[in-house]
Amino acid sequence: MRILITAGPTREAIDPVRYLSNRSSGRMGFALATAAAEAGHEVVLIAGPTALTQNSAGVVRADVVTAQEMFEAVQEAIGTVDVAVMAAAVSDYRPREAVSQKIKKTADKLTLELVKTPDILGSAREKMGFSGVLVGFAAETENLESNARAKLAGKGCDMMIANDVSRPDIGFDVSENELLVLFADGKREELAKASKEELARTLVKWMEECAQAKV
Ligand code: CTP
Repeated sequence: MRILITAGPTREAIDPVRYLSNRSSGRMGFALATAAAEAGHEVVLIAGPTALTQNSAGVVRADVVTAQEMFEAVQEAIGTVDVAVMAAAVSDYRPREAVSQKIKKTADKLTLELVKTPDILGSAREKMGFSGVLVGFAAETENLESNARAKLAGKGCDMMIANDVSRPDIGFDVSENELLVLFADGKREELAKASKEELARTLVKWMEECAQAKV
C-alpha cells in the first residue's frame, strides 16, 4: 500500500524571528512511518519542523513549515495513496499577518489577531475527494472518548487515535504513549502505555485491516 503520514508541529510566523507552535516532537508520526515502511509499504511523510531523522527505505519525506504548506503538500499527494494518517499537531490558528520586520518592544500591550488555518484532516473527504482509509489523531485534555468520537464522525475517519495530552508521562514530546482507538464500525480498542515504536506497529496492522475491509 501507499500511506501518507503527516507528523510534527507546524509553525506560524508572527514576524521574521517569532512564531506560534506547539509541543509536538513528531515522534508518533515518525514511528508510524518507520513501522509502515518495515511492513513493506511505501510512505509519503509530510513533516513539520522537527529534529528527527527518518532513514527507512521506502519513506519519501517532504518538509513543510506552516499549516498552509502542509495542507498543500497533502492535497498534492493524497490522490496517490491508499491510507492517509494525520498525526501532525497542526496549528489551528495563525497570526492574521506575519509582519516583515521584527516587532519592536515599544507598546506596553500587544494584541495578536489570529485567523483559522485550513483543517487538513477535515478537508480530506469532501474538499480533496479522498476515499481511502482515513486516520486521525485526537489530542485531548478532557472528555477523551466523547471528543474523539465526535472527531471520528465529524471528519469522516475510519480510525481515530486518541491520547490524553494533559498527562506528562505520555503523548507530547515524550517517548511513550497510551492510546484509545475508535473505529467507524463502532469497534473500540485500548492500547496500554508503551513506546511509540511498539504502538505504531499495532496501529499499522489495524490500518491494513481497515484497508482490507474497504475492498
Ligand atoms: N488537524 C488537521 N488540520 C488542522 C488541525 C488538526 O489536519 N488544522 C488534524 C490533526 O492532525 C489530527 C486531527 O485533525 O489528526 C485532530 O486534531 P486536534 O488538534 O485533536 O483537533 P481539532 O480538529 O484541531 O479540534 P480541537 O483543537 O478543537 O480539539
